[in-house]
Amino acid sequence: MSEILLQIDGREVKAKEGTTILDAAQSAGISIPTLCHHQKLQPYAACRICTVEIDVRGRTSLAAACSYPVEDSLVVRTRSSKIDRTRKMILEELLAHAPDSVELQELALLYGADKGRFEKEASFCILCGLCVRYCAEIKKKDAIGFVDRGAKREISFVPRVASKECWNCKECFPLCPTSALQAAYVLAEALAFPDQRDFRPSSP
Ligand code: SF4
Ligand code: FES
Repeated sequence: MSEILLQIDGREVKAKEGTTILDAAQSAGISIPTLCHHQKLQPYAACRICTVEIDVRGRTSLAAACSYPVEDSLVVRTRSSKIDRTRKMILEELLAHAPDSVELQELALLYGADKGRFEKEASFCILCGLCVRYCAEIKKKDAIGFVDRGAKREISFVPRVASKECWNCKECFPLCPTSALQAAYVLAEALAFPDQRDFRPSSP
């Protein structure tokens, strides 16, 4: 794998071909916030909180650091007024869904996000997919998935699988950036009322 030289926040950083801006930044000790990223999982780029500015051949644009591959001579900025505004807006939208999330509140302080900007639609889930992808990619069980679409999209355990696998696992609970209790509640509901929900998965 060949080595690539890019610039992050004015510093020259070496990275391996095929890795991402986030990987390169982390290896150089440069912090970029993440919510849907997990180093053992495939990039998903759902939450966009890792948005950075990139200059490619004289053109500046925004990119998700967790999925954008490193390129030779790429110039990356991890903080600017535009990035901070973008992250603030993302956090305000996510906080409408999970107003009590400690992780979101800490980021909100950092970026000056207003928790009350959008009307609350507390589902306690920001659809980061960490629980769903961890179960599928690492545990290979597919005990949890997304159901419905649009505003109704949410996680749901598959009772038939969950009743065998989940109580002795629960490894997805601490991954949740909003509340481990939410996953516990949905799991308990799925096991207590296995026929209540017609599980029709929607794509991740
Ligand atoms: S329950 Fe938590 S980990 Fe699962 S998708 Fe929602 S926010 Fe992400
Ligand atoms: S951490 Fe990059 S999009 Fe969520």
